[in-house]
Amino acid sequence: MSMGLFDTHAHYDAHQFAPDRDQVLSALPGQGVELVVNPGCDLASSRRAVELAGRYPFLYAAVGVHPEECGGWTDGDAEELRALAARPKVVAVGEIGLDYYWPENPPRELQKQAFRAQMALAGELNLPVIVHDREAHGDCMDVIRAFPGVRGVFHCFSGSAEMARELVRLGWMISFTGVLTYKNARRAVEAAQAVPLDRIMIETDSPYMAPVPHRGKRNHSGYVGLVCERLAELKGITVEQCSEATLENGRRFFQIQD
Ligand code: NI
Repeated sequence: MSMGLFDTHAHYDAHQFAPDRDQVLSALPGQGVELVVNPGCDLASSRRAVELAGRYPFLYAAVGVHPEECGGWTDGDAEELRALAARPKVVAVGEIGLDYYWPENPPRELQKQAFRAQMALAGELNLPVIVHDREAHGDCMDVIRAFPGVRGVFHCFSGSAEMARELVRLGWMISFTGVLTYKNARRAVEAAQAVPLDRIMIETDSPYMAPVPHRGKRNHSGYVGLVCERLAELKGITVEQCSEATLENGRRFFQIQD
């Protein structure tokens, strides 16, 4: 049986793919990968994501400024993102959010300002958002609650099962990475078990977060099947049911026609 897998989050514009980007991307359809979304991390990377999406039929782009990259945020950035979002195959605003993990990250107030501005932009453009939340659960929830008209996904979900249920109540999606395959992944596993299957998407977050048995190496979308296998196991369904459901969820969320 053929599986169509949707890797909803991979960074092919990243420098880690500089030596062999086209080889890696060209090989993906042969590895069962049907769709990939490449989110941007700053204006330059968003531009590269849009360009790459133009070259590969299965690749789509999101445009946004990541919390770690928002140190120079100005309102002009929102205008640049608005122009980029009008380009073909841009399906979301992202990745955006809050990252309180690294002390050298931009100040929290600036992160919130950039996050709010991009939530507002997504609302105006009627696009979903891809949220990065690291050690900032409460503040992320506060920001998204302030924009009830915007729907989105928490990517590489790291919150509790309770937080996942709350996001589902608010109409949001939850996305899981190869972290699900790690031995110390209890929180992610509990969250995956708590979320109904029709609200779950899968991703690699390439080049990071490679699933077991590739942990620590460069990740790519060809490994998203390992995330799917683990999620299927946790949900007590077949791998085919899991790939079909997560593909359908991703298509619906990003409004990508069959
Ligand atoms: Ni990412």
